[in-house]
Amino acid sequence: MESKRILLLTTPNSYRDAAFLAAAARLGVEAVRAVDMPPALASCGEHTLGLDFADHDAATAAIARYAAARPFRAITAVDDSGSLLAAHASAALGLPHNAPAAAEAARDKYLMRTLLARHGVPVPEFRLCSTSDDIAALAEHAPYPCVVKPLNLNGSRGVIRADDPAELVAAVARLSALLGALEPGAGPRPFLVERFIPGFEVALEGLLDGGRLRVLALFDKPDPLDGPFFEETIYVTPSRLPAEAQAAIGECAAHAAAALGLRGGPIHAELRVNRHGPWIVELAGRSIGGLCSQTLRFGTDATLEELIVAQACGIPVESLGRAGGAGGVMMIPIPGAGILRRVDGVEQARAVAGVEDVAITAPLNNPIVPLPEGESYLGFIFARGDRPAAVERALREAHAQLRFHIQPNIPLLSLG
Ligand SMILES: Nc1ncnc2c1ncn2[C@@H]1O[C@H](COP(=O)(O)OP(=O)(O)O)[C@@H](O)[C@H]1O
Ligand SMILES: [Mg+2]
Repeated sequence: MESKRILLLTTPNSYRDAAFLAAAARLGVEAVRAVDMPPALASCGEHTLGLDFADHDAATAAIARYAAARPFRAITAVDDSGSLLAAHASAALGLPHNAPAAAEAARDKYLMRTLLARHGVPVPEFRLCSTSDDIAALAEHAPYPCVVKPLNLNGSRGVIRADDPAELVAAVARLSALLGALEPGAGPRPFLVERFIPGFEVALEGLLDGGRLRVLALFDKPDPLDGPFFEETIYVTPSRLPAEAQAAIGECAAHAAAALGLRGGPIHAELRVNRHGPWIVELAGRSIGGLCSQTLRFGTDATLEELIVAQACGIPVESLGRAGGAGGVMMIPIPGAGILRRVDGVEQARAVAGVEDVAITAPLNNPIVPLPEGESYLGFIFARGDRPAAVERALREAHAQLRFHIQPNIPLLSLG
């Protein structure tokens, strides 16, 4: 029988690798990792390829060379960083995948808004702007309250609410500084201003198959996300929204995926629900980030990544039904900038009834940066229970046990 091999596109420190590698191993699929790294450092190993994901042609050529001797069943990105390259390389190698244009639309918030609006999917009023625009003039005409956001960062990085012109000018200055620091010398940078959508936020995990959406899980985000920054904290599934609201959310996400041209593989959608119904905040052609997928199990004991790898490699799965009662995760937010020196209370947090695990992922003695500039969490708390309310309570109680000792940043003293 032909061996099954999958290429996983990933980054050097991705939270997602371990779960995808474990899934491949459980399915008897050989996993090869392609890691995004500067070309000077790139090297090919037996199970690892170093590639510059931004250079689609060179990276695709390197993948094709590798595949000539050891062909792949599928090329799958573990997160957003490799989703475009996965589409390009799959197209070049004749492997089934989403069209590159669809992968691009699911990565670029302006393209996404444009396509969603064109196809009649409810989205807020939006406007493409540039850091070189006349921001005072922009502030005069913006719809308030509004949010500014970069086109392709993640985890709410750079997303800032503004309630009036002065706040908008300050938010754009802060976003410009962040974008400038991420890519020095890149010149003017585009960003979006869009109307703030009030409402309750949910996250939908789904799998597309031939353009049909199967909802795998719907998470409530019970902490209000009203800004000015949008720290994700608690996710709990199943949703406690009424069945009709959940059905409308599923239809809205399916409509959005079709509008972007996504037809296969995982999607992660964020929506807000208010008296007008569901609105798409965004829809990505990937699975849930961080370690959050640990809350999900399907059929007898399959992980989310097993469903994704199985689908990509054409391996039948017994069931896409979510198992294991209610589950939830808390992404532990960073309360302030500084150096993380010590974390107390982890054992007490783990001992809270319903808590499955507490993972502190931020390394000690390293700088930590809160939103809107930061890009990570202190760690994750996982809980399970009979009911969503009990899971939410367990997460909050465990978080209350944790004490983070953060030494504030001290301005450098002048020695002159
Ligand atoms: N137009 C909006 N109205 C209300 N909240 C928003 C809006 N846009 C973004 N947000 C909030 O900011 C969060 C992050 O924005 P999002 O566009 O999803 O960027 P990211 O890719 O960084 O997650 C959302 O989950 C939501 O809570
Ligand atoms: Mg988001």
